[in-house]
Order: sequence, then C-alpha cells, then structure tokens
Amino acid sequence: LQKHKGKDFLRVDEFNGEELMELLHLSAHVKQLQKLGQPFQPLQGKTLGMIFDKASTRTRVSFEVGMHQLGGLGMFMSGKELQLGRGEPISDTAKVLSRYVDAIMIRTFSHSYVEELALHASIPIINGLTDLYHPCQALADLLTIWEHKGKLKGIKLAYVGDGNNVANSLVLGAALLGLDVRVATPVGYEMDTTIVAKATGYAKQSGGKMMVTTDPIEAVMGADAVYTDVWTSMGFEEENEVRLKAFADYQVNEKLVAAADRDYLFLHCLPAHRGEEVTTGVIDGSRSVIFDQAENRLHAQKAILAALV
Ligand code: CP
Ligand code: NVA
Repeated sequence: LQKHKGKDFLRVDEFNGEELMELLHLSAHVKQLQKLGQPFQPLQGKTLGMIFDKASTRTRVSFEVGMHQLGGLGMFMSGKELQLGRGEPISDTAKVLSRYVDAIMIRTFSHSYVEELALHASIPIINGLTDLYHPCQALADLLTIWEHKGKLKGIKLAYVGDGNNVANSLVLGAALLGLDVRVATPVGYEMDTTIVAKATGYAKQSGGKMMVTTDPIEAVMGADAVYTDVWTSMGFEEENEVRLKAFADYQVNEKLVAAADRDYLFLHCLPAHRGEEVTTGVIDGSRSVIFDQAENRLHAQKAILAALV
C-alpha cells in the first residue's frame, strides 16, 4: 500500500493491471472487515475535501461515510459556493486547500480542470467524475463482477449505449484486467478513439479482448455481464431530444439480454432512467446487481483512500 501514498486517482489506468487487482483485493478485505464489525481506521485525523460542480447521491454519501469509517472526516463543498464560483483560480484553490486538507475528491465537467487542480495541489486528487472519466465507478463495477463471477480474466463484458465517462473508465479498467470487452454505441456517440486504442493495447498485454461495434446484439451475444448508462449525462441536457432518437435501438431490454449468457449480470452505475436505456424488467429483474455496485462504491473508495492518503 505504501507505494501509492501521495498519488492521484484521476484515471483508472494510473494503475497497471496488477496494482488494480491489488486494490480490488484491498476493497474486498475492507468490505469483509466492515461486515465483521471490525474497525479499520488508518485515516484518523485526516480530512478529505469534496468539491462538487454536479449533482450526486452515491459519490457524495459513499465518500463522506467512507472517510468517517476510516477514522477521518469528509467535507462537502459546492463549487458554486466556494470562491471558485466567483472566479478564484483553480491553481490558488489547489494551493490553499493543500494547506488544510489531506486529499481532495472533485466532481466537475472538464477533465483538464481536474488535471490543473492536481498539478497545483501537493495532496492526492481523486476524480469523482468528469465529462471524460469515472474511475471510482469502474473500480466498484469490477469488484462487483469479480464477487459475482469469481474471476475477471476472460469475463465477457458488454457495454451498450453512450460512449461516455462511465464507458471510458469501465473499458480501460476491464482491458487492464483481461476481460473480453465489447462496446456497442450508435454512430456519433462512439467512445473516444484514443481511449479505444489504449484499451486495445492494455487488452493485448493482459490477455483480454477489446471490440467496438454499432450492433448491440453482437456486443451482448454470450455476455457474462451487460452494462448500460444514461443516454444523457450531466451537462448534456440540451441534447436530450436528439439523444432519445439516436439511442432508441440501444435499449437494454428483455429481447437484447436474451442473447446474453443465461447467468448474465446486469449492471448500471445509477441513477437510471427506466424505460429509456433499460426496461424495468431488466433493471429490477433477478440478474440485476445494481445495488451491489452502489454499495461497492463505498468499499472500493475506502481502499483507494487508504492507499493514497
Ligand atoms: N454512480 C454515481 O456516481 O452516482 P451519483 O451521481 O449519485 O454520485
Ligand atoms: N454518465 C453519467 C454518470 C452519472 C453517475 C453522467 O455523467 O451524468
């Protein structure tokens, strides 16, 4: 663990496959301790500053509760209500907060803004979602698949829908850990080509696979896990009408999951729009593990915090 002290967690591929697997083992251990009622408090006296420029239920609560359970404090700050909202530079904010808190978690729009924060801060910066990535989510998702399937290598993981922040982090993490990744997106909503290229490279090294298509059935055929996310992410609300049309054939419904393995898992990072990207039958059905995913945010983030801070 010691080797990660002081590092940032802006992207899931800040870590290599072996290190990611170690973090998943630590997450599972931290979870086990909590279930046994055994305290794990390596962060006594430490404070995590949490900056939010976008809404959140899971990220906010799991980080705040996680810090408390680790013996420290999570401190919520709304970006709008900080002086940042009145134009104070992110570089000054980074330097000031570095004198008060021991790490910062930030949820915002532009990924480069978070990189700038990290550049000027002298403490670990954790990405709680940007327009480009959602690495804490990916860690929790991989933990969930591992728990339910007993392995990760060779697991067929289909992502159907928008080539967004959640997709980017999930695919990079899965490729690093040797999963067989298939992504189906409509034309115009593909994943960033540089991220696909990176994931393809990681898959070659890990023994995994990486495939992109526009055909949801091709992606889901025989899949062990089927993942989707909202069609309209935070910050893209004005595109909602256009997106509803573009994604109409990409709904994860009973017909689509019939092509998956019969013991497939359904995953969604939440919040979900039932009747849009997924039907009620699938998301509330017996194969859905959405609440395990949500719970695992807490355990995976406690592992990350314990490792970095
Ligand atoms: N999945 C996720 O990040 O949820 P919140 O937006 O509620 O934090
Ligand atoms: N892709 C979604 C994820 C929310 C947790 C968004 O960015 O709004």
